[in-house]
Amino acid sequence: MTVNMALPSSVKIVEVGARDGLQNEKTLIDATDKIELIEQLADAGVSYVESGSFVSPKWVPQMATSTDVFNGIKRKDGVTYAALTPNLKGFEAAVAAGCDEVAIFGAASESFSQKNINCSIEESLARFAPVVTAAKAKGIAVRGYVSCVVGCPYEGDIAPEQVAKVAKTLLDMGCYEISLGDTIGVGTVKSVTEMLTEVLQQVPVDKLAVHFHDTYGQALTNIYAALNMGVSVVDSAVSGLGGCPYAKGASGNVATEDVVYMLNGLGIEHGIDLDKLLQAGWFISDKLGKAPTSKVSNAYRAKAT
Ligand code: HMG
Ligand code: MG
Repeated sequence: MTVNMALPSSVKIVEVGARDGLQNEKTLIDATDKIELIEQLADAGVSYVESGSFVSPKWVPQMATSTDVFNGIKRKDGVTYAALTPNLKGFEAAVAAGCDEVAIFGAASESFSQKNINCSIEESLARFAPVVTAAKAKGIAVRGYVSCVVGCPYEGDIAPEQVAKVAKTLLDMGCYEISLGDTIGVGTVKSVTEMLTEVLQQVPVDKLAVHFHDTYGQALTNIYAALNMGVSVVDSAVSGLGGCPYAKGASGNVATEDVVYMLNGLGIEHGIDLDKLLQAGWFISDKLGKAPTSKVSNAYRAKAT
């Protein structure tokens, strides 16, 4: 067998199902079921679980129970339970609820920034700065997201230089990692490679993560391209849940089951037990009353019946 030496030997999965996955679901899932999902994910070996967000409940009603969720989780050693915080108000609520880490979320598209967080890119960066300062003072690590890294639902193609600029600003502000979000899943290997090439001029590869939505079925190939460029942190959502309420047409994140299956095939370490992960995906899909969009999940379920 030929082994591609460029691929990383291990990959960290950032599981975003309980946040990005659920935030777009109309069916409100109660805190108890979210807690069960998060505990099942941790039990499956996921070491980083984005468990909620502290945003306006008027903007994202599904996340209104985040305080209850964080208060209710039985914490597992070695697992990071994180949340999105768009401003100081959100940060303070996250700290009060015992979040281990927070994430600020900016965009490479002006229109998306306005629609998602009601301010320009520049204003958003000005709001994020005090969050990072406050987090540093408390010893809380901050992750930074950049949305619309290849395309925007309102502006179309996004220039890689713009992505690199926002990513570098978040890095310089103090984020330990920048997650590059293809919010509407329009990227292909070519556009993703061009975007990453530009970002890598500004941000070291060990500070980057990729975050693909799978709207056009390109997420796994795009992840494979990113792995070949040295990226070793991948965001994904169990069962393929997800979408952004402020990105029309955005479908779910790439399914964690599909990423794990691909990594297994490549012989890349990730620390996750696929059987337990599948159970977690079926648990939340049953609560939502819909089948997972994960092909791997559906293939295993069909095999078992
Ligand atoms: P705004 O209306 O401009 O904020 O919203 P404001 O400061 O004028 O406050 C308005 C009201 O919101 C006030 O309440 C504030 O107290 C309240 P009122 O007086 O009207 O009762 N408020 C808050 N409440 C709870 N928590 C807070 C908070 N801040 C203010 N932190 C704001 C600005 C950012 C709050 C709003 O636009 C918002 O909540 N947006 C959230 C959008 C969101 O969560 N989008 C999804 C996550 S991003 C994503 O999915 C992309 C990603 O996955 C990567 C990718 O795929 O690309 C990360
Ligand atoms: Mg997302």
